Amino acid sequence: MKINLTNIQCAVNAAEIAALEGEMKKCNELLHNGQGSGNDFLGWVNLPSSITALQIDEINQTAAKLAQKAEIVVVIGIGGSYLGAKAVLDALGNSFDHLCKKRNAPVVIFAGQNLSEDYTHELIEALEGREVATIVISKSGTTTEPAIAFRIIKSYIENRYGKKEASERIVAVTDSSKGALRTLATGEGYKTFVIPDDVGGRFSVLTPVGLLPLAVAGVDIDALIKGAQNMESSTGTQVPMEGNLAMQYAAARTALYRAGKKIEILATYEPKLQNVGEWWKQLYGESEGKGGKGIFPASVVFTCDLHSMGQYIQDGERSLFETVISVTNSAHSVKVGIDKDNLDGLNFLAGKSLTEINEKAKIGTMLAHVDGGVPNIELTIDRIDAYNIGAMLYMFEKACGMSGYALGVNPFDQPGVEAYKANMFALLEKPGFEEQTKAIKARL
Ligand code: PA5
Repeated sequence: MKINLTNIQCAVNAAEIAALEGEMKKCNELLHNGQGSGNDFLGWVNLPSSITALQIDEINQTAAKLAQKAEIVVVIGIGGSYLGAKAVLDALGNSFDHLCKKRNAPVVIFAGQNLSEDYTHELIEALEGREVATIVISKSGTTTEPAIAFRIIKSYIENRYGKKEASERIVAVTDSSKGALRTLATGEGYKTFVIPDDVGGRFSVLTPVGLLPLAVAGVDIDALIKGAQNMESSTGTQVPMEGNLAMQYAAARTALYRAGKKIEILATYEPKLQNVGEWWKQLYGESEGKGGKGIFPASVVFTCDLHSMGQYIQDGERSLFETVISVTNSAHSVKVGIDKDNLDGLNFLAGKSLTEINEKAKIGTMLAHVDGGVPNIELTIDRIDAYNIGAMLYMFEKACGMSGYALGVNPFDQPGVEAYKANMFALLEKPGFEEQTKAIKARL
C-alpha cells in the first residue's frame, strides 16, 4: 500500500504535514503504551500478531462444519458486528455472486442490521427449500436489532430442524461471560466464539466477528491476517513517519481538518470496495464524532457517483477533502473493441482496457477536484485481494486511533449511540423506562 499526498498541497503544504510528526508519534505511542483515553479498548492494536494458529484452526473448522450443513448462512449483527465482514466479503467476492450457479461455499447473507419487516420477510422467504445455518454476533449480547432478528431466525431454524439439530446450526460470537446472548448460547449448547473484552465493535473485524463469516464464505483469512500483521509491524512506534502509512494518513487528515476541511469523502473507483466505505464511515464517525468535534466521513463510488455527487464535490461548500483508494491491477481483462461504423465515436478507445480508462477518469477527476479546492489524499493498493484488504483495514484502524487522540477525544467509546436507544425503548414501553415513556409521550 502506498500514500500520495501531492494533491493536498492546495490546502496544506509538506512542511505543515512534517511538523505533525512529533504529535503523531506521541499519539501512536499512546496506542501502544496504553496511557491514552479509552485504554481498556486497545486489544486491536496487537490483534494481527497475536492471533494463534489454534484460533484460526478453530474458526476454519467451525466454518467448514457450517458450510457442510448449509447452503445459506445468515450472519446476524449490526454496526461493528456486521460491517467488517460485509466489507471484506463484497471486496473479495464476485459482484454477481447471487447469480453464480456453481458455488464452493455457502451464500452469506446478513440480518439484524435493520428493523425492516419487508427485509426480514424476504430473507425468511429466501431460506425456504435451502439448507440453513446462522451465526449470531453481538458483543454486548443485548443489542435490540440483532436480538430481534435472532429470535425470528432461531425459531425458524428450530421449527425446520428441531431443537437438537438447530443447536448444531447456530453459532454465537459474543462476550466471554456477560449478556443475554452468552446466557442463551450456554443454555442451548451452541458453539461459541469470544469477542475479547478489550476490542470494541468497530475494531473487531480481525476477531471471530469478521473472521468466522469470512471463513464460511471461503475467504482466505490467513492472507487477510498476514496483510494486517505486516501493516501492524510497519506502523509501529519505531517506524518514522516517512515509512509509516498510518502516521502519514493521520497527519494529513489532521492537518486538513485544522485547515478547515471538515468533511472527508472516501472515494473508490471499484464498486467492490463500496462497503469498505461503509465500514470506514463507522470506524471514523463513531471514533471521532464527539464533543462537537470530528471530521464527517462520507463515501462515494466513482465514476458512478460523479454523475450524482460530482457537482457538489466540484463546486459546493469548500469544506471537503477526498481520500481516494486506487487499485493498480484488475483481476480480469476487458477491452473496448473496434467497430467499423464507429457510430458511438468510441474507436479512439479501441484496444484500451477498462482499467486504463478508469485510471484516466481517476486522474482527471483528482485534478479537477484539486482545481476546485478539494484536496486529495491517494491510497494505492496493488490489487484487491485478502492480503491487501487486511493491510488496508489495519492501516485505517491505526490511523483512526492516532487521529482521534490528535483531535482530543476518546476514540474508543460511543456515548452518542445511546440517545436513540433510550428514546426507542421509552416509546416501546420497555420495563424500567416508565418515566422516560411518560416524558417522551408528552413531546409527541
Ligand atoms: O462499534 C461499536 O461498538 C458498535 O457499532 C457495535 O458494534 C454495535 O452497536 C453492535 O453492538 P453489539 O456487538 O454489542 O451488538
